[in-house]
This record gives sequence, C-alpha cells and structure tokens, in this order.
Amino acid sequence: MVSLKEENICKEAKMLLENMTLEEKIGQLVQYGRLKEAELQKLEAGKIGSFLNVAGADKVNKLQEKAMKSKNPIPLIIGDDVIHGYKTIFPIPLGESCSWDLKLIEETSEIAAEEASTEGINCIFAPMIDITRDPRWGRVAEGTGEDVFLASQIARAKIRGIQSNKWNDRPYVTACPKHFIAYGAAEGGRDYSAVDVSERCLRETYLPPFTAALDEGAYTIMCSFNDLNGIPSSANKFILRKILRQELGFEGLVISDWESIEELIYHGIAKDKKEASLKSIEAGVDIDMHSGSYEEHIHALIDEGKLDKELLDEAVLRILKVKIALNLFNNTYTDTSLSKKVIRSTKNVEKALEAARKSIVLLKNKDCLLPLNKNIKSIGVIGPLAEDKVNPLGCWALKGEPKQVTTVLEGIKHKLKSETAVYYEKGCNINSDLEGGIDRALELAKKVEKVVLVLGESSDMSGENHNRAYIGIPEAQKKLLKALHSENIPVVLVLMNGRPLTLTWEEENIPAIIEAWHLGDESGNAIADVIFGDYNPSGKLTMSFPRCEGQIPVYYNKKNTGRPNFKKYLDVEETPLYPFGYGLSYTQFNYKNIKLSSKKIKQDEKLTITAEIENVGKIAGDEIVQLYIRDMVASITRPIKELKGFKRVHLDPGECKEIKFEITAKELGFYDEYFNFVVEKGDFKVWIGPNSIQGLKENFEVI
Ligand code: GLC
Repeated sequence: MVSLKEENICKEAKMLLENMTLEEKIGQLVQYGRLKEAELQKLEAGKIGSFLNVAGADKVNKLQEKAMKSKNPIPLIIGDDVIHGYKTIFPIPLGESCSWDLKLIEETSEIAAEEASTEGINCIFAPMIDITRDPRWGRVAEGTGEDVFLASQIARAKIRGIQSNKWNDRPYVTACPKHFIAYGAAEGGRDYSAVDVSERCLRETYLPPFTAALDEGAYTIMCSFNDLNGIPSSANKFILRKILRQELGFEGLVISDWESIEELIYHGIAKDKKEASLKSIEAGVDIDMHSGSYEEHIHALIDEGKLDKELLDEAVLRILKVKIALNLFNNTYTDTSLSKKVIRSTKNVEKALEAARKSIVLLKNKDCLLPLNKNIKSIGVIGPLAEDKVNPLGCWALKGEPKQVTTVLEGIKHKLKSETAVYYEKGCNINSDLEGGIDRALELAKKVEKVVLVLGESSDMSGENHNRAYIGIPEAQKKLLKALHSENIPVVLVLMNGRPLTLTWEEENIPAIIEAWHLGDESGNAIADVIFGDYNPSGKLTMSFPRCEGQIPVYYNKKNTGRPNFKKYLDVEETPLYPFGYGLSYTQFNYKNIKLSSKKIKQDEKLTITAEIENVGKIAGDEIVQLYIRDMVASITRPIKELKGFKRVHLDPGECKEIKFEITAKELGFYDEYFNFVVEKGDFKVWIGPNSIQGLKENFEVI
C-alpha cells in the first residue's frame, strides 16, 4: 500500500480541500451506521463521508453514486466488522492465535478482506489488538491473548493480510486496528469500565501491538470507549496527539468507536454533544462514528471561534489522503459479479479447515485415550453444542451463515464408516436443563463404545459486553458432565468457548480435554480430524487458564516481586491451571542440547541460540518451539519471562531437528525510568521450550 506521506497524495488532498465548503468538510467527518432516507439525502449534499454496516456491491455502488453526484464528488469509506472472516468464517481470533501460525493468519485475513471487498467494503474494523489478561471480559474472544510479542507479530500478519489488496479494479481495503488504547484492561473484566494503568504499563504492554500495526501501514485506527487514566480515549490528547501523531508519526485517520464521542457526556467530561465534539476533534478524532455530534456542532464551533479551522482542515486532509490511497477516486465502484466467484470458494473453505485444525489445543489426554480408533462399533455424541450450527460461528461472525457450519456430529459421521453406529443426545441446553436429557444421555453412554461430549459457551457468552463473573462450564452442562463421570464413563470432552474457562474439576476428573474454541464453518470437520487422529493437535494457549476466578488476572510474564517464594493464596496454587504457551500433542517432543553462540554479547551484537527437538513418539506432529528470556537485574523491574521468539517445526516419528533463534541485544531492551528505550548490560537467562513454564535453560551476559 502506498504511504500516506507520498507527496502526490498530499498534493491531491490539498487541492480537493481547497475547493470544499465548510459543510462539505464537516461531511467528511461524519459516519453513519444505519441507512435511513434522511441520510441518503445528505449524501448528495456531500454531508456524509462514510458508512458502516452496509454491504453488497450493488447497495454500496448506489451509495457511492449518490456521493459522487454531489457538487464536490468525494467517494465514501465503507467500514465493517470483519473480525474473523466475512462469509467464510474462521476461528475466533483468540482461537486462531493459538495456531501461532503467522502465515496462516495473514492468509485468513487476506481472504476475509478480499471477500469483503467484493461487497464494497473498503475499511475493515480489525484487527482487534487489545492485550487481554482478564478472561471475564467478553472481548478476549476477539483478541490474540496476553503476550505483547506474539500479539504484535499477529497484528503485523493481520495488517499485511487485510491490506494485501491484490487487485486494481475496485477500491483497496484498509485495516483499522482497535481499540486504541488499553481497552483490555477494563476493571474487573467489565466491558466499557474505567482503565487506570501507569504510563509504563501503557507503553510496555498495550502500545506495542499498535506500534506494530501502524508500522505495517494501517491507514486508520479506532479509539476505544474506555476512560483512560481519567480522560476517555475519544478525548485523550496524550494518546491521540502525543503518542500517535508526534511519537509514532501516524498520518492516517482516527475513527471513534460507536457513538464514543457522545459518550463523553456520560463519562462526565462534556456537558453536551457540542462540548464533546470540541474535545474529540481537539484530541484528534477525525471521524465521528454514528453519534451525529460532529454533524450537529462542528459548524457552530467554527462560527463561534471555539474551534480552529486548521484543526478541521487537518482532520479532513487525513480522511482525503486515506480515500486517495485506497484508490477510491479512480476505482469507486465494485463489479457486482465478483462476489459469487470469490466468496466461500473451495480455497477459502479449505483455509478455514486448516485454521480450525491449527487453532485446537489439546489440554489433556490421559493414557492416550485420544485419538479414537475409526473402527469402533459405536459412538455416542452428546451435549448441547454437538449438533449446533449457530454457536461455532463465534461472537462476531458478521455475514456467516449457520447453514454453512459443519457440526461435530456431522464431522464425526463424515469421518466414520457406515458400519459404525453414531448416536446423538443433547443431554441439556447450554444454560438450562432439558427434561429427561441427562437420563437419555446416560442410557446412551452406557451402550456405546466411546463418548464424545461437546460442551461450552454459546457465541453470545463472549464478545462485546458479554462478560462473565463465573467462567466455568455453564451449570446445566456441568451437571451432565458430572452425571457421566459418576457412572465412570470415560468421555472425550470437547470445549467450544470464547475465553479461558476454569476447568480445575475437569482437569482432575476427565481423561481427555480438547479446547476447540468457536472454530467457524469448519468446526465439526476439524474437531473430528483431531478426535480420530487425522490431524495431530498443535495449538498452544495464548491466554493463561486460571484455576478459579479469584486468580484473575493471571498471566505468565509477571514481575518477580520482593517475595517471590511466598505463598500467594491460602486456598489456591499461584500458577494457572494451563499456562501461556501450553498445548499437548499425540506425540512427544524431547528438547535437548541448548547452545549459545556466545556467553557474552555486546549491546550492538546478536546472539544465536540453538536446541534440538526430537519426536520421540509414534505420530508425526508440529511443535511450536518457544524462546523466552529474563533480564535478571535492570534499572526497572523486569518480568520473570518474556517471549522473544517462536517457530513451528514438523517432525516425523524419530526425527530430530535443530531449531535456531537469533536475538539482538536491542530485543532485550525496555523503557527506562524516563521512558527512553535502553539496552542495559547484565545477566540474562534464556529458555527454549514447549511453553512458558518448561524448557532448556542457559545464561548469557550483555556486556
Ligand atoms: C462496536 C465495537 C467496535 C466496532 C464498532 C462498529 O461497539 O466496540 O469494535 O468496530 O462498534 O461496529
């Protein structure tokens, strides 16, 4: 994608601006999310610059035509929430992040953007790159977990994918990384709640994924709903002007979240929409998503001399530059015949299966109960999510359709020969008992050879403002699970959920547990592939699973504290049930022979770390090898571990490969007391391992 700094883009935008009236300039700041007759009339008067929640090439073309009929024809930005697929639905982002497969993530992002573009969408409100450490928060489902390094790498892959734009006959697509900033730190996991974090935490934890996304060339960014240290993001000059514009040099546009400008009134920092408008545009919010504040008040603010025309012109210029860079003036319209060729193509559906398979995390497999033998005589598939076509689509499936989802029951039936008897019992509802359901499930379980139990959350138990204070398997389903357990029936537990769950009882009592998230269209096929061993699970958790809600927040890269060995709770172990980076395989990988290129590196040198990984089991498999470091002594306390690299390696049984990582001393740096980025001399530890708590360790020194 062209840089917004390019001279010809700036020149063209300035020429457009010079010919615009005040009303037309204000129109560019206005985005609407519903198509009422009144809005359509404003279009021809150039009073609206963008829409969201509108899709379909024909419908969008008509809107563009109206916009191009105005005296000063300026095409529209058309935004939409393409969070994990457009019509081909991929795993929810938290699930897909467990693949740690950047190439895959770039590919699914590219497919989603291409499908969306054939229906006229040119701005995708994704990726959501809020670091998430509180699984009570519903929106962890949309994110990519707790780790800054991994989330930053995934952010880059998603921007590259969304903005790949391998066409020149229709508008390009821009990403819109969100929600700037620290939205994931909402108090208590309660969506929209206040966020109060130190500048250090802001810069070290929440900012890096955005820095990465903008470095990959995102043209737009969305500010968040939350109050940040006393000033809501939609009016926060520190983050929008100092950090975003001055420090990061971002030239693109900032769009508010839905009505977040008007919400400044409820935050209590604006008495009305007029004051809210002034605060937002002065802070640097360019487009007002759907609140009408800018449309209603910017003109008066200018007339009354309260708003400097310069600020308005700056905002309009940024919007015009993005529209020029999206090639919207030259390619305003979309060929209406394209979508049926592109959407849900065989290639796209195959990619959805690959993504679903790689997102699955094997949490437990006692006595190698899994994979099941395909030649079994009978199998019972039980549970409210086993035959469900809606919930596997996940929390933001946009244009996905239940009819395109393969259920677990269907996936298992496709997998097995007709001689195998496949039975199904729902057993209970997701959140309520089912008359006689448990009895029927027990009766079935007693007569079949194997039982697969599919439990978890409905898709609307995660996502925006779908927060949970208790994050276990819903009670009605727990009763079914315990009933089966009480009859000593060894079940394979498949979980479909949008967040880490508290699974302490399950870990102690259930022999096999598969974390299958909400995997999208190909859920059933991917889960069946794993259950019967046609795919050896390789996923690794990107969010720690707490033992109970009382542990939250729990994440791997914590500080050591002055009393690291003191017991943290009287009643619960300190460690999470399943740590960041954890995931099992049907085979076993042995790590050996860690070696360093040197025990000392200068501050401008790099270090090579190698280790050998051997598949000592009987099944081929992929292993996601992880590299962690620890800075033992520094001018600022450092985390006990920090992920600094990862690599996926495929190993056949008996195969052994050397894995090599290179890190530069710069990657060991951090912000000092004055927020200068420094690399300090001193001792470091380094691990190469399968997750954040195991691995081969070595020491080195930065001199
Ligand atoms: C929502 C979400 C945001 C989304 C926007 C438009 O409230 O916070 O992620 O992009 O509104 O739908």
